[in-house]
Amino acid sequence: MAKKILVTGASGWLGSALVEALLERGDAVVGTDLMVSPTIAAFAAGGANLTAVAADLGEWHQVMRLFEKHKPDAVIHAAAIVGVIQCADIPIKAQRVNVEGSINLFEAMRLHNVKRLVHVSTEETYGDFLSDVIDEDHPQKPLSIYGLTKLAAEHYGRVYSRDHGLECINVRTCWVYGPHLPRLRMPRTFVEAALRGEPFHQDDGGNLAVDQVYIDDTVQGVLLALDKDKHRYDAYNIATGVAPTLRDTADAVNRAIPGAKISVGDSGPYHHGGKVLSAVKGALDISRAKNELGYAPRYDLQRGIDSTIAATRARMNQSGF
Ligand SMILES: NC(=O)c1ccc[n+]([C@@H]2O[C@H](COP(=O)([O-])OP(=O)(O)OC[C@H]3O[C@@H](n4cnc5c(N)ncnc54)[C@H](O)[C@@H]3O)[C@@H](O)[C@H]2O)c1
Repeated sequence: MAKKILVTGASGWLGSALVEALLERGDAVVGTDLMVSPTIAAFAAGGANLTAVAADLGEWHQVMRLFEKHKPDAVIHAAAIVGVIQCADIPIKAQRVNVEGSINLFEAMRLHNVKRLVHVSTEETYGDFLSDVIDEDHPQKPLSIYGLTKLAAEHYGRVYSRDHGLECINVRTCWVYGPHLPRLRMPRTFVEAALRGEPFHQDDGGNLAVDQVYIDDTVQGVLLALDKDKHRYDAYNIATGVAPTLRDTADAVNRAIPGAKISVGDSGPYHHGGKVLSAVKGALDISRAKNELGYAPRYDLQRGIDSTIAATRARMNQSGF
């Protein structure tokens, strides 16, 4: 049965993809973010069953008004200050948005009797991976402010679930990529350089193995978690289950674009944005999501890179970039 879903971070990269997927299947959506993006405004103007609302999750009254006015059935929580570097640069703001913003949502849900929330969480909550493939029971000892704030949001959700009957479900996805990734990191940097016909070399991190998830697979996992009738677990790894190295990713771009010269050295461990040392990564075991949710990732690395290249090429041709 179609429902009304409140999507936070609706103007963001994953948020707008989630809004689009919900609308496509016939749900009504209340999309909220600090500002209404052109993409979200275009969906709303095109007659979609979407109400776009500008609101700051850090402002309690604005969050309460969202629930009072729009009465959602469930929430997908994709708003955050996202990324290791971004949160390291503005730690207090990261705390305010990622933690206090989440508490504001949980409180509003409690007061308005809205039970289910799917939080788009991250592998950064695990800290250093202790083996090549890790499941949801792996210790969560985040090493970044980003991971710490996302873990705090997970735990607050757990407390609200225990004490107030909410169902806060955490979808832990990994390095999501795909068309129009908003951050200047690989594979976007690799793909754009290759399409411009420029060589690109990154000095460090060539051997960093990390699960890289195509955006459509993350969207699939979030919607499956939203739809499941009764959850036995409150966390699911949503990724691919394998961890190509950054060098493998460069090779996938080189294979797809004739003449591309993308390389990654191994002068040292990977640093986010060239500045902040990465945690040890690996693959996420997705058995729980497969068994409990019926999750099945559709994109291996090469397919995801090919699809990203096609979309990036189209955008670059359009903008003359
Ligand atoms: N992209 C990834 O690789 C990845 C991986 C794991 C988890 N995640 C999670 O997925 C979610 C979405 O990430 P994304 O990549 O789309 O990032 P994004 O930056 O594109 O989206 C985040 C959105 O949150 C909004 N936001 C920030 N502060 C806000 C506030 N005070 N009130 C309301 N909205 C606010 C931003 O305006 C932005 O539109 C985040 O929760 C992130 O932690 C992303």
